[in-house]
Amino acid sequence: MRILGIETTCDETAASVVERGHDGHGHILSNEILSQIAQHQAYGGVVPEIAARAHVDVADILVKRALDAAGMKLRDLDGIAAAAGPGLIGGVMVGLTTAKALALVSGKPLIAVNHLEAHALSPRLTDRLDFPYLLLLASGGHSQLLMVRGVGDYVRLGTTIDDALGEAFDKTAKMLGLPYPGGPEVERHALLGNPDRFTLPRPMLGRKEPDFSLSGLKTAVRLEAERVAPLTTTDVNDICASFQAAIVDVVVDRTKMALRLAKASIGNPTALVIAGGVAANIAMRKALKRLANDNGLALIAPPLALCTDNGAMIAWAGIERLRLGLTDDMATPPRARWPLDMKPAPVQPEAIVDV
Ligand code: KG4
Ligand code: ZN
Repeated sequence: MRILGIETTCDETAASVVERGHDGHGHILSNEILSQIAQHQAYGGVVPEIAARAHVDVADILVKRALDAAGMKLRDLDGIAAAAGPGLIGGVMVGLTTAKALALVSGKPLIAVNHLEAHALSPRLTDRLDFPYLLLLASGGHSQLLMVRGVGDYVRLGTTIDDALGEAFDKTAKMLGLPYPGGPEVERHALLGNPDRFTLPRPMLGRKEPDFSLSGLKTAVRLEAERVAPLTTTDVNDICASFQAAIVDVVVDRTKMALRLAKASIGNPTALVIAGGVAANIAMRKALKRLANDNGLALIAPPLALCTDNGAMIAWAGIERLRLGLTDDMATPPRARWPLDMKPAPVQPEAIVDV
């Protein structure tokens, strides 16, 4: 089975062809991506209008590149998948409409993929991984601890009550004058810094319900930065290292609680899985690997290139859904909001845009 996947929910335009072999393994035949980071950097974050226009400019080019690199024509595919949300609605409309057009002209089925589900299933593209598994989904817009029981079957155990994990990295970077996106920048500086220099809070530590709250940590970073300003490179490195140590402690503690809750309420997971952009963070991976191993589980994380947004994860989610006969029609709306642990309907009226 071969699927084209299109991703346009945020600031990356991506297209990929993925094949599922008879052995059940996924093979990435092409994985094209164009980042818009340079166009947003001056603003310190993603500007939705700029993002939507940039997706329009390159979506068709990337699809062609992905097909060419895979040596495929549309007729060689079994379906066309696109992220139909959640995300910036202008971008989502571009990707979904492109997929609808391709599905119409080729007569292939359309698969409207939830971007979060694509992150959640992406480890199954590269690893043999059975349901149910405990997933930490950590990206710029989302921080969730979910039990993944099957395709389309998710139980949310915990979430953030304020900032997302990636957002906390991005805001910390911004406060320190580092460029967007902040996660890789903070990680780079943290490697050179002293994690013990600043005493930062670990919000929610020890709390039973596995939720996150990160705004207190963000405020503490701001106060420390203001206290030692003007910041030297050493100060920036030390703040980054101290922040990263704090957020890793929080993530490990919250994940430990989720594991406990999952075992008590659902059953033993087969593995601990991390996905989303923050899963690219090496310190986070190491700490979670220790936690998983302490609990007799493996830590499964997608390769770094598949952690952040990409087309291959959309294509793979399309394969998982198409195998179950789950396809979508031309009336499928793009969604700004689309929680994973809910059935697609009812959608908030303002999130529906007719295309
Ligand atoms: O999944 P993703 O590519 O896009 C969203 O769906 O949000 O995640 C992007 C987020 C950004 O907040 C970025 O700063 C963060 O992931 N990120 C990282 C790292 N690489 C990306 N955070 C921490 N450490 C990293 N190495
Ligand atoms: Zn994402």
